[in-house]
Amino acid sequence: MDDRVYEKYIRAGKIAASARNYGADLIKPGISFLEVANKIEAKITKEGAGLAFPVNISVNELAAHYSPRHDDKLVFKKGDVVKIDVGTHINGYIADTAVTVEVDTNKYSDMIKASSDALDVAIDMIQDDVEISLIGKKIQETIESYGYKPINNLTGHSLEQYSLHSGISIPNVSDMFNKSKAEEGSVFAIEPFATNGAGRVISGRGSNIYLCKKSLRSHLARDNRSRIYFNKIKSQFKTLPFAQRWCEKSFNNSDVVLRRLTFLGLLNHYPQLVEAGDGIVTQKEHTVIIREDGCEVTTK
Ligand code: CO
Repeated sequence: MDDRVYEKYIRAGKIAASARNYGADLIKPGISFLEVANKIEAKITKEGAGLAFPVNISVNELAAHYSPRHDDKLVFKKGDVVKIDVGTHINGYIADTAVTVEVDTNKYSDMIKASSDALDVAIDMIQDDVEISLIGKKIQETIESYGYKPINNLTGHSLEQYSLHSGISIPNVSDMFNKSKAEEGSVFAIEPFATNGAGRVISGRGSNIYLCKKSLRSHLARDNRSRIYFNKIKSQFKTLPFAQRWCEKSFNNSDVVLRRLTFLGLLNHYPQLVEAGDGIVTQKEHTVIIREDGCEVTTK
């Protein structure tokens, strides 16, 4: 990896880690999701990084993919199990990191520890030429040793410039069909999820998180207005996910526009990912750069 690229990954990682910690400290009963998301994102921008994706705030049986709307009314309650997932980038070099906090109770401390220990084990194992499937197996064993299940259809993922999921997945379970290996210089987000539910997620309602589709299909937007909005969105967010909240700042009828562009097949609206057995879910995530004899965690 080029020195200048390395330096950008490290800087993105530092900013993501401090934003994650700052966000986790903000969570108190009665505080709104919107306030926490806005404050984290403002801090990231102020420190000179871009937003690799909207801050995800996913509570209890929601494993991932919720970001508050511009007029969101949700507030944290005592006992909530909250996953804060934060993404930053410097010139497209991404850091992705998440932590779980329980609001004013300690009922799920061991489930929080299960996902955290599984991440530590994966970080200890990963290095050049390691088979990815062995990492998934270890993550699974670690989480099961606590009496919980890993979420089998959520995975870690390789990162490349301006690409959040660039091809290689790190499963959270043993997967004999995954023949990929980690390679020196490649970058991964590793994110074990633990649950007391079914061990998989299903799609729920809209997350308020969108992505421009890759294909050049803007000609499908026959009406001029849709095309203008789509080109505006695409030039602003490019290949990275974005929030309804952010669009509302640029045009105050964002719901109508986003719904229309999604209907036309130009945008993906991600669904919320809900635990299939309504179990509580915990998550921990770090971004790592693979080395010959280990890895370097950028989001410590
Ligand atoms: Co993440």
